[in-house]
Amino acid sequence: MSTSRPLLYVSRLLPHPVMALIHDRFRLVQEPTETSPTPAVFRDGFSRAEAAICTLMDTVDDELLSSASHLKIVANYAVGYNNIDLDAARRHHIVVSNTPDVLTDATADLTWALLLATARRVVEGDALVRSNRWTGWTPTQHLGKEVSGKTLGIIGMGRIGRAVAQRAEGFRMAIRYQSHHSPPAVPGVWEPRALDRLLQESDFVTLHVPLNSKTRHLIGTRELSLMRPTAILINTSRGPVIDEAALAHALQSGTIAGAGLDVYEEEPTVHPLLPSLKQVVLLPHLGSATMQTRVQMGLICLDNIQAVLEGRPAPNRVT
Ligand code: GLV
Ligand code: GLV
Repeated sequence: MSTSRPLLYVSRLLPHPVMALIHDRFRLVQEPTETSPTPAVFRDGFSRAEAAICTLMDTVDDELLSSASHLKIVANYAVGYNNIDLDAARRHHIVVSNTPDVLTDATADLTWALLLATARRVVEGDALVRSNRWTGWTPTQHLGKEVSGKTLGIIGMGRIGRAVAQRAEGFRMAIRYQSHHSPPAVPGVWEPRALDRLLQESDFVTLHVPLNSKTRHLIGTRELSLMRPTAILINTSRGPVIDEAALAHALQSGTIAGAGLDVYEEEPTVHPLLPSLKQVVLLPHLGSATMQTRVQMGLICLDNIQAVLEGRPAPNRVT
C-alpha cells in the first residue's frame, strides 16, 4: 500500500542500512545523492514532504519553512542545529529534532585523534615516510609535545566535553573547564575556570560548545594571545566558534604552537593560510564519521519522525 506511506524528503544520501529502512517505510520526494541538492530541489522537497531529514550543510530558514505547508518535523542529522531557524520552526508549528548521545563517543575519539596527531606531528611524519626522504632515526627528528600529565582546557562540558575529559584520565591530565553545564568537579583533577584563566593555564585547549550568538568567535585575537606560545588548540565543534583568520595569523606568528581542526567557518572553504602551516592538522568535518554512529544517527531521525507522524512527542525535540 505505497500510497499510505508518508512522504519524506531526505537532503543527502545516508548510509545504506538507513536508506533501506527509509525505502521500506516512506515514499521519497526524490532519491537523495551524495552531493548537495540544488536550492530548487531542496525547496521542492520541503514544500511537498510531511517530514524531512536534513544535514548541518543545509540552511533551514523562515522562507523555506513558510513554504513547507505539509511539513510536521525536520529531523536534523546532527547534534548541532545552528543551521535551523528554531524561532521560525516554532511559529510554523514544525518540530525540530537532533541526534544527541549516539555521536558523543565518536566525536570525543576524533578529538583525541586530532590532539595526538597535532602534538606528535603524525601527519608530518607520515608524509616524510611516504616521500622516500626519510634517512632513519635521529635523536632530534620531528620532536613533538608531551601529552601525558599536561593540562587540558575544555570549553563546553556537555556530553562531548565530558567524554573528552574521561579519555584524558588515561593520560593523567589535569582538566580545567569552562561550561554552563555543571559537571561533577573532581577536586584537583576537573576544575572549573573562567575562560581567560583556562586559556592561560592550559597546554591543550579543546572546544565543545554549540554555535550560537554567544559562542560565535568565542576564540579571537585576544583569547589566542592569552594562550601559551607552546599551546595547541583543537576544534571539533563548529568552525565559527573560532575567528579563523585570527587563528591563522596567530599560528603563523607563533602566538600559539599548533591547531587541530575538524570544522571551519565557511565549510568546505578553509582559510588559505592554514594548509601552508605544518603545525596544523586539518580534517574534513569527520567528528561523527563512523559507520556505527552514522547509522544510529539515521535511526534516531526515523524514530523522531515516526513519533511526530503518529502524534507522539519527538524524543529528541529541540524546539
Ligand atoms: C556534527 O557536526 C553534528 O553536529 O552532529
Ligand atoms: C553534545 O552532545 C554536548 O552536549 O556536548
